[in-house]
Amino acid sequence: MQLAPNFLAKRPLTAEYDFAGIVEKENGTEFEVGDSVFGFIHVSITLKTRQGTLAEYALVPNICVTKRPFNIDVIHASGLTLAGLTAWQSLNCTHLEAGQTLFIYGGSTAVGLFAIQIAKARGIKVVASASGKNQGLVRKMGADEFIDYTKEPIHKYLTSHPPSPKFHGIIDAYGLSDPSLYTHSAAYMAPDGVFVTTTPAPHRISLREIGYLVKTLTAITWPAWLGGIPREFKSDISTRPWW
Ligand SMILES: NC(=O)c1ccc[n+]([C@@H]2O[C@H](COP(=O)([O-])OP(=O)(O)OC[C@H]3O[C@@H](n4cnc5c(N)ncnc54)[C@H](OP(=O)(O)O)[C@@H]3O)[C@@H](O)[C@H]2O)c1
Repeated sequence: MQLAPNFLAKRPLTAEYDFAGIVEKENGTEFEVGDSVFGFIHVSITLKTRQGTLAEYALVPNICVTKRPFNIDVIHASGLTLAGLTAWQSLNCTHLEAGQTLFIYGGSTAVGLFAIQIAKARGIKVVASASGKNQGLVRKMGADEFIDYTKEPIHKYLTSHPPSPKFHGIIDAYGLSDPSLYTHSAAYMAPDGVFVTTTPAPHRISLREIGYLVKTLTAITWPAWLGGIPREFKSDISTRPWW
C-alpha cells in the first residue's frame, strides 16, 4: 500500500476485498434475498466506487458472488476468495498433472496454504518451504516434504540438493523480488516446468530492490537461445480474470 501513490490507488477508499454475507437485493440475478453468499469486490469496482468490504454493505456484479456451501461458515468463507483464487490460478498456470511434483515457495502464506491443498486434491506431490515454526501447519495442509528457507537461501539449497526427478513446476506464493529462485531454476526444475509467481513485489524502495527489478526484467525477457534462463516464467496476475 505504501508503494502505490495516491493517483494510482485513489485513496481514501474503504479497505479489503473479500466478504461473506446475506443477499439484501437480488436485482434480477440468480440469487434470492436472504441467500448466504461469499465473494469479493473486483478491484476495478473499488477504484470506481471506493467500496471495500470493511463495511456493512457491498454492491457487486453477480460474477463476484457465489452461494456459500452449508459446510463453510461465514468466517472461513470471508477469508477464501482472493487468496484461494490466486492459488487456483497459479496452479493452473503450471499445467501440472497427478503424480508430478510441485515446489511451493511461501508455503505458509495465505496463497501458499490454499495452493498446497488444491495441488494435493489434484494428486500432485508437494514440496513446500516456510520458516521452521510453520512446518507443522504446512504439513497439516498436506505438504509431503518441507524445507526451512531461513537456514540457507532457497536457490542455493535446491541447487546443492536437487530433487529427483526435478520439480515439474514451481509456485512462488510469497512474491520474491529477488529473482534468484527463478534464475537458478534449471538446476532443480524440469525443462518443460513453469515458474509461477504471485508477482515480485519490492518491500521497500532501495537500490537493492531496483537492482532486483532490473535483474528480473532481464531474466524474463532475454531469450534462452542467447544465454537467457531456459525455463518458462509466468505471473499469475496476467491470468487473473478479476484483476
Ligand atoms: N492474500 C491475498 O488475497 C492475495 C491475493 C492476490 C495476490 N496475493 C499475493 O500473494 C503473495 C502472498 O500473499 P499472502 O497474503 O498469501 O501472504 P501472507 O499470508 O501475508 O504471508 C505471510 C507469511 O509470509 C512468510 N514470509 C515472510 N517473509 C518471507 C520471505 N522472505 N520468504 C518467504 N516467505 C516469507 C511468513 O511465513 P514464514 O515465517 O513461514 O516464512 C508470513 O507468515 C503476495 O505476493 C501477494 O501480493 C495475495
